[in-house]
Amino acid sequence: MMKKILNMTDSEIVDAIQSRSLNICVIGIGRIGLPTALSFANSGLPTIGIDINEKLVEMINSRNFPLKDEPGYDVIFNKVVHEKKFKATTNFNEGVNSSDVIILSLPTPMDDKNIPDYSALLSVAKKLHDELSDGKLIIIESTVEPGFVEKDFLETVEGKDQKLKIGKNFCLGVCPETANPGQILNDFERLPRLVGAIDKHTQNLIIKLYKHVFTVNLISMPDCKTANAVKLTTNVFRDLNIAFVNELALIFEKAGIDIMTVLEAAKTKYNFQVHYPSAGVGGPCLPVNSYQMINFAKNFTSKTFELVEVGRKINENMPFHTVELLEDALNEINLPLSGATILILGASYKPDVKDIQISPVENIVKLLKEKGANIQIYDPYFKNSKIFGITTLDDFVPNLKNSNGLIIATAHKDFHNIDPKFLKSKMKNPVVIDSKNIINQHLAKNVGLIYRGIGRGKL
Ligand SMILES: NC(=O)c1ccc[n+]([C@@H]2O[C@H](COP(=O)([O-])OP(=O)(O)OC[C@H]3O[C@@H](n4cnc5c(N)ncnc54)[C@H](O)[C@@H]3O)[C@@H](O)[C@H]2O)c1
Repeated sequence: MMKKILNMTDSEIVDAIQSRSLNICVIGIGRIGLPTALSFANSGLPTIGIDINEKLVEMINSRNFPLKDEPGYDVIFNKVVHEKKFKATTNFNEGVNSSDVIILSLPTPMDDKNIPDYSALLSVAKKLHDELSDGKLIIIESTVEPGFVEKDFLETVEGKDQKLKIGKNFCLGVCPETANPGQILNDFERLPRLVGAIDKHTQNLIIKLYKHVFTVNLISMPDCKTANAVKLTTNVFRDLNIAFVNELALIFEKAGIDIMTVLEAAKTKYNFQVHYPSAGVGGPCLPVNSYQMINFAKNFTSKTFELVEVGRKINENMPFHTVELLEDALNEINLPLSGATILILGASYKPDVKDIQISPVENIVKLLKEKGANIQIYDPYFKNSKIFGITTLDDFVPNLKNSNGLIIATAHKDFHNIDPKFLKSKMKNPVVIDSKNIINQHLAKNVGLIYRGIGRGKL
């Protein structure tokens, strides 16, 4: 019988990987967990995905790939399902106890007061406490605050009754996921990964295992909390830099300085890393990670983490600013927003993905509703679906003739080639708010659009 992974030496784990005798289980097979599970299966290791979403499990087991916006994984999915290397289940015990390695890719959202919500991870930790058989390796890929793994998670798996003991009954580490939705395969093949663990032996096991699956550089972290701190630091850095350009945009608009011209020139300086202004920052990562950082910092300072708080406020104000720009543009033709028909292009929080989690578009819609506008939404990833309380269009062109204003809210590829001349000829009133600055503003003016971009001012 094969030794338990917890007690394997370096050469034993290499042998177990080579002979494909290690079984992998991924709990949470969503945006990140499913591609992760498919990569493990594609490396030859039998993999099972566990999820509480019955529809998702059913879809996967009937060979219907759910992540159509993740290029490359459809092919891998068909291959590993055909080879019977991958299947999904809702049965926790079946998945966990038939596996040597348990990878957690569970959601870590926040509640309506912006407090991080780790209930999915903690409920799975409790189940592991109750059900886990001896000798397994648990790896957390979810994004969590530094210290959460060592304290809350570990304490829950071990339990107050100390039924399980780390190092004796199981081992534990982290490998925070950093891939970008829409390009996960590409990122899995090039982004270095951080590995932290409760002890050096576990870290070695994880590095050997991930080296087999991913061809990227694996960076050893001194512990779990440092690995989790790196993950948060990179995303908070981005959230803050976007807040910086968003605030610059508000000032430059008034000063008659075009932010895009400034950024294009600024990025020629070797130590300037460019970020762009927009209608806000969404998705399950950046906003949540900033609040995780704020929550984490509370443990160590009597003040709040002011800089991150301010950055969040600036980014959360951008949907309001977008609507202000719209009102200002409508005002130029003496049209009130109340009663106007506004067409929104894009609902996803980022280009070319089907994902509306924490999308700034939701607040734009809410504000427009409050102000009495009639709202229409077109998004190529959400045709004829109900989002933000509105049934989306399956094409936007026929609706231009009834539109008093248009907001480009997401920079999907489909919108990059929109011709200002076409908009001018088709729209009822040629009012265009370009929250992604993808339209050539000089062209917009020349053809007679009433155009506003974020940070671009009036022409
Ligand atoms: N999406 C991203 O861009 C991204 C990037 C890097 C890291 N992350 C992190 O990865 C983690 C997962 O994020 P995601 O975007 O894949 O989330 P997701 O919502 O797409 O997927 C999570 C899956 O977990 C399932 N689930 C929830 N509770 C469960 C439970 N108790 N038992 C079993 N399954 C359960 C859900 O049904 C869902 O399918 C989060 O911590 C996130 O912050 C996400």
